[in-house]
Amino acid sequence: MNEPALRFYDEQPTLSNLREEVLRGLARRPRSIPPKFFYDARGSALFDAICEQPEYYPTRTEMAILARHAAEIAAAIGPDAWLVELGCGASRKIRLLLESLRPRAWLGVDISREFLRGAARALALDYPWLEVHALCTDFSEALRLPVRPPDGHCVAFYPGSSIGNFDPPAAERFLRCVAGALGAGGLLLIGVDLRKDPAVLEAAYNDAAGVTARFNRNLLVRIRNELGAAVDPEAFDHRAFYDPVPGRVEMHLVSRRAQVIEIDGRRFAFEAGESLHTENSYKYTVPGFAALARRAGYRSERVWTDERRWFSVHLLRVDDGG
Ligand code: AVJ
Repeated sequence: MNEPALRFYDEQPTLSNLREEVLRGLARRPRSIPPKFFYDARGSALFDAICEQPEYYPTRTEMAILARHAAEIAAAIGPDAWLVELGCGASRKIRLLLESLRPRAWLGVDISREFLRGAARALALDYPWLEVHALCTDFSEALRLPVRPPDGHCVAFYPGSSIGNFDPPAAERFLRCVAGALGAGGLLLIGVDLRKDPAVLEAAYNDAAGVTARFNRNLLVRIRNELGAAVDPEAFDHRAFYDPVPGRVEMHLVSRRAQVIEIDGRRFAFEAGESLHTENSYKYTVPGFAALARRAGYRSERVWTDERRWFSVHLLRVDDGG
């Protein structure tokens, strides 16, 4: 098979970046490591497997919203867009929109390099009319686009409620940064998971098949394999629960016994039951998220939800001068 035309920009975080953030995270109290480090090739594949679990409703619900309203979404955005997909993963969701949207170009952005390469390649093969670019980078701190559309409008697509990984002030800063990269008049189509029955939320992060637990432990697998740490991932339990006060699901790795994680001669002693916080997943109300978007410099153009109002997709426009 011919290699499709594909422009790849590689700014993948280095091993020393992983080492620094892990050492810093293990040293602070409470101990925490940012969730972006879940995503090496294995982590991205495990996340895809999470999306297939019967308890994990967000993917399925968001895809149903996108499929159902594809024509309307496309009409609101208009053709010939420069589409920037943040955290594109396997880039399955954008396929629901491509035929109706007919963008000029797609730039996939993800931290997981080989996974991104595969996803971009598959898109280029399946949509020969689409100009395909891929940027491997950690966009959580800053977003700098390696290519700009000569003309045409910039539209960011940030699906999956990954915005929930930021706490609300950081989410606001991040959205502001995206607005800056898009420029005035730019659009952001963003998926946002909604507050709901805690039992539904907790089941979604504690699937019966144990895939989320494997995904969570993958962080320790990376620390062992890539940093040469002495650590047994199986000596930590997966724990996920919903806290209705901040409105977030927290994920932790809880030490089953007293043990030491050793990295580069540095020793981090865990007591039995001591936890390492690995992820927050904030849930919003529709007006709560719209207000956050306004503070970040956007106008809310449209919101689509499913019948149960479990998930929302917002179309936001960057304010002039915002
Ligand atoms: C990719 C951040 C949207 O928070 O639901 C899934 C990651 N973690 N199960 C989420 C995740 C555990 C997911 N996001």
